[in-house]
Amino acid sequence: MRLGLGTGSTARHFVELLGERVRAGLDVIGVPTSEATRIQAEQEGIRLTTLDETPELDLTVDGADEFDAQLRLVKGGGGALLREKIVAAASKRMVVIADASKRVAKLGRFPLPVEVMPFGLAATQAAVTELAARFGNTGAVTLRKKGDAPFVTDGGHYILDIAFGAIENPEALAAALNMIPGVVEHGLFIGLCQTAFLATDRGVEAVESQSA
Ligand code: A5P
Repeated sequence: MRLGLGTGSTARHFVELLGERVRAGLDVIGVPTSEATRIQAEQEGIRLTTLDETPELDLTVDGADEFDAQLRLVKGGGGALLREKIVAAASKRMVVIADASKRVAKLGRFPLPVEVMPFGLAATQAAVTELAARFGNTGAVTLRKKGDAPFVTDGGHYILDIAFGAIENPEALAAALNMIPGVVEHGLFIGLCQTAFLATDRGVEAVESQSA
């Protein structure tokens, strides 16, 4: 199987367990969604490829910062949203693995990450702030930092986090964010995830998408 390998503390467990299976003989090849996952997968002995060599994947397994009943996701808390979205979109199927705390009635509790070009940051931040206000945002739009410096993604970009609280129309917001020059990608994953496997008190629950 050709697998997309997610990023984050939950996906890390998946990659670790996959490594065990590979060492026991499982035949898979993976595309990592971040440098951190690439390093971990290499240490686990998982055979890796790229989307240039393998443009279509069978399945991506990744975590999420939150998801709703339609399996719309917010991702990017770990800063890997761009590669995560490219890899998920190149996969026939994407599943999320998460604990029950990630399930929300309405997206927006987790700040929405927006990956932006360093060039023109102030102008892009102003445009994102203005757009977010039109979509009802009253929270902050902050540049993510690592120490005193901006956090830099694997692609060499910055991240703005929008503290929405609640996102009323994720589809329209996603489309509008993509129209802002300087925005590389945002953390709304819509129509990409088919199933979420949730760790609950009663064991693992498979959640399928419910239409709006
Ligand atoms: C990485 O950029 C993110 O999209 C992660 O997949 C997401 O933040 C979930 O991470 P955790 O499993 O660490 O909560």
